[in-house]
Amino acid sequence: MIANIASSLLEHYRIHARDLPWRALPGEAAQDPYRVWLSEVMLQQTTVATVVPRFARFVERWPNVEALAAARDEDVLNEWAGLGYYARARNLTACAREVAARGGFPRDEEGLRALPGLGAYTAAAIAAIAFGARAVVVDTNVERVVARLFGVERPVAQVRSEIRALADGITPDNDAGDFAQAIMDLGATICRPKAPRCAECPLKMHCAAFASGEPEAFPAPKIRRLRPHRFGIAWWSERDGHLWLVRRPAKGLLGGMAALPGGEWGDTPSPAPSLALVSHGFTHFTLDLAIVALAKPVGEGWWQPLDTISEAGLPTLYRRAVEAVLVRRSDLFAA
Ligand code: ADE
Repeated sequence: MIANIASSLLEHYRIHARDLPWRALPGEAAQDPYRVWLSEVMLQQTTVATVVPRFARFVERWPNVEALAAARDEDVLNEWAGLGYYARARNLTACAREVAARGGFPRDEEGLRALPGLGAYTAAAIAAIAFGARAVVVDTNVERVVARLFGVERPVAQVRSEIRALADGITPDNDAGDFAQAIMDLGATICRPKAPRCAECPLKMHCAAFASGEPEAFPAPKIRRLRPHRFGIAWWSERDGHLWLVRRPAKGLLGGMAALPGGEWGDTPSPAPSLALVSHGFTHFTLDLAIVALAKPVGEGWWQPLDTISEAGLPTLYRRAVEAVLVRRSDLFAA
């Protein structure tokens, strides 16, 4: 029955694999490890729909690992703007330099795991997809599919090692790369968190959650903690159509990214009258950012022409802050 799971899934994948720019379709030669690595890093925490155009832009600018190894950190961070989780971009250049120096990607999980920024998931995904190794690839989609198949009811966070062992048990010796991509596609398109499309699922006859009649109940939802709320100020200094921007310190949240200047974020709202206010959700807290006019620019930075602000590499929080001020202003002019 376990072999049937892999073969049913692979058969389905041969017909329904999503055609993605970093992917070799079933039966084609494996993709370039650089493209596999880059796509897997981009796809962590970011949807396929968002990644597709950003991946295309990225590989056009840096088509191989040697080109990326020679890039300036700042340019890579700017190119990453809007994708979030910027530690990924900082690790990307570090990793590219190490891979270029050693003359290529390691081909096994252990060697891959030793590279900067590569966790268990990414190392397994590259080993399987780019090098055809038998590796057990487990991301959140795979966890959900496996939990449903085997009727694991507890929240995934409490049963990670059990789910991993179950995933290991259904991973075939051959075609591990296609199998990994097939199960991830299944999780994204059919075995979705809400309203799974069980009627279309090649595994429904093997699936404990389907048999229960309530597939969506598996696995139990994660226990959500309330995120704390913070307040901050960002300074808007503008001169002759230029806006004063700074680069955030290399370490910490949004490290190394272009930004509006501002102080620490704290527990009390700003009393200063603001040009605009944006609310933003980070993983561990939510933020209200007040954008306040300030005549004199603060900190080390540069004057960014407002008409090329979209090229400044602002992460989403600051892009939204700038948009909020500009929209407010155009509303005032229109009134
Ligand atoms: N999500 C992350 N990596 C993926 C892949 N290689 N195929 C499908 N979905 C994915």
